[in-house]
Amino acid sequence: MLKIISVVGARPNFMKVAPLHKAFEKLSLIIGQLAEESGKWISAEGGESKMGGEKNSSINHQPSTITHLICHTGQHYDEKMSKVFFDELELPEPDFYLGVGSGSHAEQTARVMIEFEKILLSEKPDLVIVVGDVNSTIACSLAAVKLHIKVAHVEAGLRSFDKEMPEEINRVLTDTISDFLFITEKSGIENLKKSGVSDDKVFFVGNCMIDSLIHYLPKINKSKILETYCLQPTAYILVTLHRPSNVDEEKSLREVIEMLNHLSEKRKIVFPIHPRTRANIKAFGLESMLNDNIILTGPIGYLDFISLVKNCELVITDSGGIQEESTYLGVQCLTLRENTERPVTVEVGTNHLIGTDFKKAEVAALEILSGKKKIGKVPELWDGKAAERIAEILLEELRDCKKY
Ligand code: UD1
Repeated sequence: MLKIISVVGARPNFMKVAPLHKAFEKLSLIIGQLAEESGKWISAEGGESKMGGEKNSSINHQPSTITHLICHTGQHYDEKMSKVFFDELELPEPDFYLGVGSGSHAEQTARVMIEFEKILLSEKPDLVIVVGDVNSTIACSLAAVKLHIKVAHVEAGLRSFDKEMPEEINRVLTDTISDFLFITEKSGIENLKKSGVSDDKVFFVGNCMIDSLIHYLPKINKSKILETYCLQPTAYILVTLHRPSNVDEEKSLREVIEMLNHLSEKRKIVFPIHPRTRANIKAFGLESMLNDNIILTGPIGYLDFISLVKNCELVITDSGGIQEESTYLGVQCLTLRENTERPVTVEVGTNHLIGTDFKKAEVAALEILSGKKKIGKVPELWDGKAAERIAEILLEELRDCKKY
């Protein structure tokens, strides 16, 4: 038996692990059927990909089952930041819930490590999968490698080259200690090469988050969220902001709200507020500054949120994932950051990296609203099959490390 634990911690992790869980379930089912047909050991040398993908795997020995378990660290814990995603993405209840909650970076990271180590010691998995760049990602990969458990990092190789972002530190460290690095875009290959990672650990597979988007598109298309907020397609702006660099200082948060107020004279604005941003707006006493044409909501579930992205005229964001989702959907995106770790969204997609001069951002937004739009393409391998590629590669790679 091959035992794998995938880690989720914060909101952007759920949509990356959901397709992996489905891919392992599917692979396990196929292996189970093959095992029944041909005894315990399976020889499928040079056979076709078991998942129906393009990869031609040559698997001599396979485990009779794959057990894929999910550990939720509890970094995000609110119903609307966490549970709704499990329900909508059809993830099973997590097998382990660490309940670490909020805290300083050191507190949060340390608590995840202490609790996750206990799970590792009792479960003894063959592999831990971590995704993205949140504190749970580095904490769990570090706990695992110290116990000599193999680690796969999904969404590896991305770099903003900005060490002031906690996520950049998490990315660099996780990539350094992981055994398998799964890449969403080619910039990742170059970045890992430059940091001395050997090529045989690196796999360009596509984007698991886009797998979820593609899989749930029929349901997303049925969302009633536009009716709920009386919005017309392509006639509103969607805003999300939560990066410390934009929302933790009163001056920048005030300037952001001024920019939104000006833009709200041209279009309705929908602004689902992240808990960090809501807390800071309140702490700085800025609530009354927001215009009536700005619709404030709490965090929105996955299907409704992607429906809002798909139908808006423009997204203004500082999120990493939304740069990718808007690029896939061909929607204009203004990113209020000085850098992006996802350059393919600017080079190939519909992302405009505008910086944190909010006056400049306002001008850029007005230009887009007046029709100056960027034509984008879907980046290479963002085809809905990344998780299946990852599951197959891992199965084959682990065969060499473990005799089933
Ligand atoms: C984290 C990730 C960031 C990701 C973001 C998505 C790190 C370093 N950062 O940032 O990369 O883009 O998630 O949302 O891991 N809070 C709640 N309820 C919750 C979760 C958080 O109220 O369910 C509040 C807490 O007061 C907490 C604050 O939000 O202090 C920030 O949460 P935290 O997980 O520390 O970081 P995020 O800003 O969410």
